[in-house]
Amino acid sequence: MNPGEIVILHILHVVSVLLLTGFTFLAFAAPPESRKPILMISGIAALVVLATGVRMWQGVFGFSYHGWIIVKVLCWLAFSALGGLAYRRRNLAPLLMVVGAFILAVAVAMVYAKPF
Ligand code: HEM
Repeated sequence: MNPGEIVILHILHVVSVLLLTGFTFLAFAAPPESRKPILMISGIAALVVLATGVRMWQGVFGFSYHGWIIVKVLCWLAFSALGGLAYRRRNLAPLLMVVGAFILAVAVAMVYAKPF
């Protein structure tokens, strides 16, 4: 993979993470009729996060096993579920937002510390 593609993947990955985060937190406060467009945007952002993540895993690490990547995939799975939950469990919004912030913190810590 050429260096230009790696840079583009990193940028796309982080921009999609920002969009996924923004629209997921918006889902906790938005009116019920906004469900479809907001879940659509956060769903597309989540797919781009996964696709760019997997491509970087292949291009930068040759799909070699790293515990931190597995933890990131689990964080992605859990965080991607929050948008839908935000509409169905409005009463749990404060708790789910704290959980979401914690999941993001773990995912970011994994990529920068790469502890295992
Ligand atoms: C909520 C989920 C995620 C968050 C918050 C997140 C966040 C980040 C951040 C902040 C970076 C650093 C970019 C940079 O330094 O330029 C990164 C890089 C990366 N992410 Fe993710 N990511 C998530 C999900 C995933 C998933 C699901 C995968 C794999 C399938 C993945 C694989 C990677 C890889 C391989 C890198 C490049 C690391 C490197 O070049 O050292 N990420 N991610």
